[in-house]
Amino acid sequence: MSQTNSPKELLAQIKDLEVKIKQLKDHKKYGLVWEQKPEDVVLKCEENIPVLKEVKNRKIVTDNLELSNLLIEGDNYHALSVLNYTHKEKIDVIYIDPPYNTGATDWKYSNDYVDSNDQWRHSKWISLMRNRLKLARNLLSERGVIYCAIDHYELFGLGLLCDEIFGENNRLGVITVVHKPEGRQFANFFSPSNEFMLVYAKNKSVAELNQVILDEEQKDRFNEKDEKGSFYLKNFIRLTDGKYSLRESSPEGFYPIYVSEDLSEFSLEKIKGYIAVFPITDRNVERTWKTFGDTFIEKVKGGNIIAKNENGKINIYEKLREDQVIKTHWSRKEYHAYHFGTKIIEDILGVKKFDFPKSLNLIIDILKLSTKRDSVVLDFFAGSGTTGHAVLELNKQDNGNRKFILSTNNENKICEDVTYERVKRVINGYKNKKGEKVEGLGGNLSYYKTDLVNTEKLHVVSDEARIKVTYQAGEMIAVREDTLNETEKNEWWQIFTGNGKITAIYFKENKERLRELIAVLEKKNTNIVLYIFGWGKNEYRNEYSTKHIKIEDIPEPILEVYKEINRL
Ligand SMILES: C[S@@+](CC[C@H](N)C(=O)[O-])C[C@H]1O[C@@H](n2cnc3c(N)ncnc32)[C@H](O)[C@@H]1O
Repeated sequence: MSQTNSPKELLAQIKDLEVKIKQLKDHKKYGLVWEQKPEDVVLKCEENIPVLKEVKNRKIVTDNLELSNLLIEGDNYHALSVLNYTHKEKIDVIYIDPPYNTGATDWKYSNDYVDSNDQWRHSKWISLMRNRLKLARNLLSERGVIYCAIDHYELFGLGLLCDEIFGENNRLGVITVVHKPEGRQFANFFSPSNEFMLVYAKNKSVAELNQVILDEEQKDRFNEKDEKGSFYLKNFIRLTDGKYSLRESSPEGFYPIYVSEDLSEFSLEKIKGYIAVFPITDRNVERTWKTFGDTFIEKVKGGNIIAKNENGKINIYEKLREDQVIKTHWSRKEYHAYHFGTKIIEDILGVKKFDFPKSLNLIIDILKLSTKRDSVVLDFFAGSGTTGHAVLELNKQDNGNRKFILSTNNENKICEDVTYERVKRVINGYKNKKGEKVEGLGGNLSYYKTDLVNTEKLHVVSDEARIKVTYQAGEMIAVREDTLNETEKNEWWQIFTGNGKITAIYFKENKERLRELIAVLEKKNTNIVLYIFGWGKNEYRNEYSTKHIKIEDIPEPILEVYKEINRL
């Protein structure tokens, strides 16, 4: 029996339908869909603020004038949250090697190991990675790049996730690394001998790779013979190269380039006296140009096109772009994870203490490709600390001044017994397994643990909690300012020095002793940043800043960063 709806009911139905249509339109049409699994460490940040606490007896200093490297023990979600306050857009290279989610009980989600029987294991892994990569992206400088190591278990999920977070357009490459050329034992069908690295830029249009030849095989590329049997010009490639570029398949690519008689000028327009050069090979095969239109003109302007008269025939060459030199298949034998990873750690620590480290040489090559000599490098799944070791080693090789930040949890005391111990020995020197003395590479290290300051509700932080955060934020601020040595702390203020600078924090709403502190600081005659407690922002900037003293607010900017993170 049909029933007539009242206009009011019809309107309600229309509204309902409109909502449904919007939901359908908003629904993701392509990409990664998974069950978001709440994670303890993330939930904790709704009521707590992560900060850093230094473990002072683990500090290592071999050079007082140098900045310190950092090792942060704790869950990397908390470490990355802190770094969002201390190092936003300051990291040049991130390298990570997360647990691969193989089904072996080797990683935890919300305090529980995730094994192959866990029906949510892919969702949990993607949730873990999403939460961290979102925070990591904020840390990359405009020219920054991130390398994510992965194997076949989560390659596809991670690829979609990274495309989503960093943007498909910023994907620089998918690299295969042959880490075990002999293949894995007891494998079925195919025995994995390689892993992958997904490489993304923060912004591909300004990202750069250094011009380095990573292996002999790459050098050979320039020595391959062309079809006529002559060698390529070093670093130049003939503009008619390319197997598939025949005239019949793309006729629009077959046209003359006009070259001046002295071979120094090029034009796509006909010019009197210029010679018309067609893309025809020495064996009279008609091809297309490899680079054409505006790109060709740009390359001419950049001095990247040359012409040569070879036996009466004019050939046009294009200079290889520096980043074209790097291929995506990395197969140096020095990338073997056992021989140049496991064995190296064993040699340093005397016993086997870590299962799946990366080859030290692999990370050094990544740094050679992607760092400048003063870059800051972050690894937030640091494990045995290979990335830190690689930074120290490369600094030694090229007299560089790179700095590293490592973060890892302390599962099975890995941070204390492996990461820290390895880095310490590499810095100070050690006796290897044969009993020989190995010289230290030098460097400084400060060891921190993450800690949580309870604020009850982050969106309405009580006055009491604001005061608590201010008292507890000192070491985090010291890290932000690169002034790591605490020289004074009392009920009213805290002072840090380092790197020729001073950072001070004034804790109290009552400003009666602030002038006294400023007078003490003024005498130091160096660059000073003074954080003054307040209920909001910009309350004291005008009143107290001087030629040497820059004023910052506390704690509001910290709270803002964490509120933002929680919205992510
Ligand atoms: C595969 S290992 C990295 C190995 C490292 N590339 C090397 O060469 O030694 C991953 C490391 O991340 C750590 N880890 C896993 N989940 C973590 C988390 N949520 N926070 C911090 N560290 C974590 C584990 O303890 C493990 O040591």
